[in-house]
Amino acid sequence: MHFTSIVVAAFAVVPSAFAANFAVNVGQDNTFAFNPTSITGAVAGDTITFTFMSRNHSATTTTFTTPCPPPDGGVAGGFDTGFQSATGTTQPQSVVTLASADTQWVACRQANGGHCRLGMTFAVNPTASQTYEQFLANAQAS
Ligand SMILES: *[C@@H]1O[C@H](CO)[C@@H](O)[C@H](O)[C@H]1NC(C)=O
Repeated sequence: MHFTSIVVAAFAVVPSAFAANFAVNVGQDNTFAFNPTSITGAVAGDTITFTFMSRNHSATTTTFTTPCPPPDGGVAGGFDTGFQSATGTTQPQSVVTLASADTQWVACRQANGGHCRLGMTFAVNPTASQTYEQFLANAQAS
């Protein structure tokens, strides 16, 4: 009984110790793609570690209906890693901390949306009514 109380208190005091990290590769094998293309179950305080593996890309929050180009700096409540250039030996990483569990639509903003139109897109917590597949289709059609 006493032991249980101590464990409960520890959870309350150090919630951040239980935040999840999601690893996402950007431009893996020289593709214009995020891998994986979406994550689900992300909550406030969780992190996404983007590893930039080729070329010169960004991970930038944009909108579902107008994905390309993503705005410089991303959208309110979102994020923007800025341009990250991989070289033969260097694969930069950007760690983004999520401010909420809200759905976020993400794309590369390189080449004035050119990479985005090639399908370089990613979703945080897509929904049944707004799916990753429809977001990708919106990007490719823009
Ligand atoms: C990466 O791309 C941005 C935007 O096109 C450009 O300004 C920057 O110079 C590039 N960085 C490198 C290292 O090529």
